[in-house]
Amino acid sequence: MSEKLMENQMDQPMTRRGFLKTTAVTCAAIGAPVIFTGCKTVQYPADDCLIKSVQGGAALSGKKIFEEASFGPIPVKNRLVRSATSFHATDEYGRPTQKLLDIYSELGQGGVGTIITGMTDTGLLLDNETFREQDMAAHRKVPERIHSYGAAAIQQLSHRGSQLETASDEDLFSINRLSDLEIEQIIERFVKNIERSRRMGFDGVQLHGAHGYLLSEFLSPAMNRRTDKWGGSTENRFRIVNEIIKRSKQKQRAFPVFIKINAYDFQKKGMREPESINIAKLLEKAGCDGIEVSCGVARDGFSTLRVTEVPMDAITAFGPFKDSSRLTKFFVSTFGPFAVGLYTPLFNYNVCAAAEIKKQVTIPVMVVGGIRTRGDMEAIVQHDLADFVALSRPLIIEPGIVNSLKDKSQTESECINCGYCLIGHYSRDVHCYYGKV
Ligand SMILES: Cc1cc2nc3c(=O)[nH]c(=O)nc-3n(C[C@H](O)[C@H](O)[C@H](O)COP(=O)(O)O)c2cc1C
Ligand code: SF4
Repeated sequence: MSEKLMENQMDQPMTRRGFLKTTAVTCAAIGAPVIFTGCKTVQYPADDCLIKSVQGGAALSGKKIFEEASFGPIPVKNRLVRSATSFHATDEYGRPTQKLLDIYSELGQGGVGTIITGMTDTGLLLDNETFREQDMAAHRKVPERIHSYGAAAIQQLSHRGSQLETASDEDLFSINRLSDLEIEQIIERFVKNIERSRRMGFDGVQLHGAHGYLLSEFLSPAMNRRTDKWGGSTENRFRIVNEIIKRSKQKQRAFPVFIKINAYDFQKKGMREPESINIAKLLEKAGCDGIEVSCGVARDGFSTLRVTEVPMDAITAFGPFKDSSRLTKFFVSTFGPFAVGLYTPLFNYNVCAAAEIKKQVTIPVMVVGGIRTRGDMEAIVQHDLADFVALSRPLIIEPGIVNSLKDKSQTESECINCGYCLIGHYSRDVHCYYGKV
């Protein structure tokens, strides 16, 4: 399996295989003479958490979104963060393209306080074949560009685990089959890459411990079925993350290591809020500098980021089925909407979990997921439900939204939650499609 530096890998919404599987299962069910039960809708949590938390009488913190703050040890100009968003805008060696630098310029000009890069698989899989020391100057351009607008630059590091694009049905990567030696190698590669991020000039790193990628697979009671020291108890499932943070801090104590975790993942017997609180406490103990609260598993479709309806025309036009036959496209368009889960609520769906985590730790907590209005962002920090608010899609459609919210020329994002930008990954063309192919 070849390892690739992918500065901006996609946070894959669903694999083609996963999509086909769920579609096939549904169609088999339809084929039987039974009453079709319709679109699968999963409700967890059922309500807009922000309303619930505010109505629950959350205390006022006095914090404001537009004030200087400390993101862990990093001074930042406001409490708004660009959540990791992959644009697929790197070259074969993982070096940033001009397009990627321009995206960071637009975001920087737009006033966001902190930018987290798209997920980066810098040599985490096997010996690093793609990253070349001689390209360091090229890699440095990303934090340099971000810093030139007064924003903090965080690099997201990930190992995609069983959601590797290269995994075939036969040799699916499984954390449950890794040997001790292989786990050790993964830990050391993370540590090496954290050190590399520091040398590139980033202000810190964020470990991708959410959305069903390797670290979140280890953390999840459902996905981690190991019976050795890497599985079972919370402490055992947390061990890999603990080792990465501990070893990195031993080498470069002051360099910030953040993490994005799932508060819940919709898996049977999987991650749930109480367990994510236990993990948050362990993270603080391990020396982690801050936690971003997210949810869901990328391959399940639209649980990590919510959409109003399944974007079938995008999926068939430029998504995973773009090269399929007309018959397959017909099949997918007809039955796909019934097979892919739609998750609700659309807005503020991680706020309750973030608020509960925040009560239990002193390190900064950041929340992402369906946060769209200035009023909601303000309420989140004013009511101390989280210290920072992270946005992904609002900054795809309007990279300058932070300044517009600040000067009040805009009160909410124009994003219509169509999800087409995510499907754009398949053709390596991530931008706002605004619901049109
Ligand atoms: C195009 C696209 C790419 C994404 N890439 C990443 C990624 O690389 N790493 C990550 O942790 N999340 C990624 N996400 C998920 C977002 O960071 C965020 O968790 C999710 O979109 C919900 O936030 P939103 O409602 O503000 O979009 C991506 C989302 C989109 C739309
Ligand atoms: S394509 Fe544009 S409108 Fe649709 S979800 Fe993405 S950012 Fe929002």
